[in-house]
Amino acid sequence: MPAPVDLYDSAYGNYATDIYRQVRVATYGEDLGQTSWVTNEESHAIPQALELTPDSRVLEIGCGSGRYALQIAAIIGCTIVGVDINEAGIRNANSLACARNLSSRVSFQQCDVAKALPFPNTDFDAIFANDVLCHIPGRPALLREIFRVLKPRGRLLFSDALIIGGAVTHQEIATRSSIGYYTFAPPGHNECLIEKAGFCLLEAMDTTASAAAIAERWREARNQRREPLISMEGLTTFEGLQQFLACVSTLSSERRLLRYLYLAQKPD
Ligand SMILES: C[S@@+](CC[C@H](N)C(=O)[O-])C[C@H]1O[C@@H](n2cnc3c(N)ncnc32)[C@H](O)[C@@H]1O
Repeated sequence: MPAPVDLYDSAYGNYATDIYRQVRVATYGEDLGQTSWVTNEESHAIPQALELTPDSRVLEIGCGSGRYALQIAAIIGCTIVGVDINEAGIRNANSLACARNLSSRVSFQQCDVAKALPFPNTDFDAIFANDVLCHIPGRPALLREIFRVLKPRGRLLFSDALIIGGAVTHQEIATRSSIGYYTFAPPGHNECLIEKAGFCLLEAMDTTASAAAIAERWREARNQRREPLISMEGLTTFEGLQQFLACVSTLSSERRLLRYLYLAQKPD
């Protein structure tokens, strides 16, 4: 079985280095600090899908480096709170907010969203989470918490790249899970949880092909920068991450693991 592999401490701790920036640009085309399977098209479509306006108060769950939340705040003019369990991510996010003079409208706090969300009822107009809910034990409870802190008619968007689409071996599950806790779910599971939490499902979109392409570009971008990355991450982490990305690429391109994007709304 593969040993646990660090992805997020390296990604957020090394965020500002030129090598990590080059890898993000080569992987996604535009550097929005991503550590997920989100495409640029998806990143640009999220504000409209969530019907964001300058008056919106938005929560990003699993904000990682914070860069994408800052982009939305700068483009839309809204207020955003980002939460993530990763200390290096939150440190990076708060320093980016300061450097961009956005601290009055954007804030980041370290928070384990497997526990109750530290916000009052109906605090947010919109909530999103890119490739985060798969990491959370107790997804039904988190969806109930999201429902609680959203305003009536507020929208939720989240993605899940761990929908089982075909046969997966125990070694593949172990490699795919080497970066941390994951829940693998059958098709229809999230749709069911969304409705059980009280939301109306507006859309469920299959984005598996894009996830496969991103994983392969990410693996290749890192491979081309192998030596400097090994000196920053160490050989074990470098090779563990390459195996993880190759596994995502294979399972997604063969549609044995699927990625879906869900858009839902809290009723009036
Ligand atoms: C796949 S990354 C996505 C980051 C960002 N949303 C993006 O699109 O680049 C998943 C994020 O979820 C965060 N995360 C994992 N478990 C968490 C938890 N229990 N509470 C809050 N954040 C968590 C990780 O630290 C990581 O930043």
